[in-house]
Amino acid sequence: MNLAVVVLAAGQGTRMKSQVPKVLHPVLGRPMIRYVIDTLNRLKPDRKIIVINPLHDPVCNYLSGFDCEIAVQKKLLGTADALRSAFSLLHGFEGTVLVVNGDTPLISPVTLKKFLTRHHRSGSDISVLSFNAGDPSYYGRIIRNNSGSACMIVEEKDLSAGQKAIREVNSGVYAMKHNVEGLLGKIKKNPKKKEYYLTDILALASKRGLKSDVINIGLEEEFHGVNTMADLLAAQRLIQKGLINKLMKKGVRFLNPDSVIVHPDVRIAPDSVIYPSVCLEGRTVIGRSSKIFQGVRIVDSRIGRGVSVLDNSLIEGSRVDDESSVGPFARLRPDSIIGKNVKIGNFVEIKNSRILEGTKAGHLSYIGDATIGRNVNIGAGTITCNYDGVKKHRTVIGDEVFVGSDTQLIAPVRVGKRAFIAAGSTITEDVSANALAISRAGQKEIAGWSHKKFKKDGKE
Ligand code: UD1
Ligand code: CA
Repeated sequence: MNLAVVVLAAGQGTRMKSQVPKVLHPVLGRPMIRYVIDTLNRLKPDRKIIVINPLHDPVCNYLSGFDCEIAVQKKLLGTADALRSAFSLLHGFEGTVLVVNGDTPLISPVTLKKFLTRHHRSGSDISVLSFNAGDPSYYGRIIRNNSGSACMIVEEKDLSAGQKAIREVNSGVYAMKHNVEGLLGKIKKNPKKKEYYLTDILALASKRGLKSDVINIGLEEEFHGVNTMADLLAAQRLIQKGLINKLMKKGVRFLNPDSVIVHPDVRIAPDSVIYPSVCLEGRTVIGRSSKIFQGVRIVDSRIGRGVSVLDNSLIEGSRVDDESSVGPFARLRPDSIIGKNVKIGNFVEIKNSRILEGTKAGHLSYIGDATIGRNVNIGAGTITCNYDGVKKHRTVIGDEVFVGSDTQLIAPVRVGKRAFIAAGSTITEDVSANALAISRAGQKEIAGWSHKKFKKDGKE
């Protein structure tokens, strides 16, 4: 059976009170709609149509990266009208049309597959997926007749007092035969909201003698709809909990999982420990037995085995190899490659630099556009002066070099293997291997000077 999936995503998201189109609001770094698309892809549909708002260019741009068709709903006249826009692309299509809301990012493909199987088995013209809600007030209610079969869906605003207690609700997922399209045009405007409600299709179908069905197989959590910022947070928490449980099953230890953010593409090897308030984002990978301490944020970076990233450090687009230690309060900016057994200490900033095995930069340094060899000591306060106001220049430091504290390396500059740089030097010329470079004014001493000053100031 051919399958077309339709995602209704044109809504303004008024209740979000945000300029950002609702379906682009991120849940753990990914727009909400991406979760829906990924889930639908698991059903291997023949057609995938997303209904969008004509004013939402960012949604259109985002979707251009996906294999889907776009239907523009010219005026936002409700969910039935949105589905009609999708049907305008489906002329000649024969098969099942599965409709999903764009604002329910937690739906599982397993439930959708089950739903489709039940829909096909029953031979219904239209099926609605329902679930029992703890608090049904956010959803349309399923009204069943005396014989127990469902006959209509009523939105919260239109409920009678007696219907309010009903807990079976509409998930917003529908399966229908392609030929129910004609029914959509027959739906009347809801008198209160002046919108065409897709939910009315159920009552209309039974009136016309079509076979309809409400299939109650949903879990409340997976149909959690995002209409407000609070709903968005709740969705994020639910997704996060699932991801962290999976990681814990694989042997990752979290000290306070409720306080951390871990994006869906992050991978963490067993025996790693994640302290409170850590954010692991993008495509970050953490190797075995590493420790990520409190308040660390790591974005799109690879951390090796046995690494410690100490408190309050930020690592972006970088690599840290096995057994190294970074932080506390360190910053690795993009394209920093930190070799094995390296120590990057407090208040050290590194950018676009390569630091080889065994090197130490323990305190208060800026290392930008540099290549630093093995077992180098970078003294406290060392600065690579890489920018001349127009261009960036490189600093290259050989193996086993000793850079004394408070050294400025004016790039472009090269320091040969095993050279020593005396503390407080400003290095403007290349330094040869094995040499000592010292560039600081010689120290003078004027004997008894302060004695005279005290006298002059009348303090003696
Ligand atoms: C809708 C259902 C409700 C169901 C709930 C499940 C209707 C009338 N109500 O309510 O029964 O319990 O979903 O989450 O269908 N959209 C468009 N164009 C429009 C209007 C909406 O594309 O003109 C899209 C929205 O972007 C959204 C989806 O349709 O993704 C649902 O719209 P929304 O306004 O969120 O409906 P709910 O009030 O949540
Ligand atoms: Ca909704």
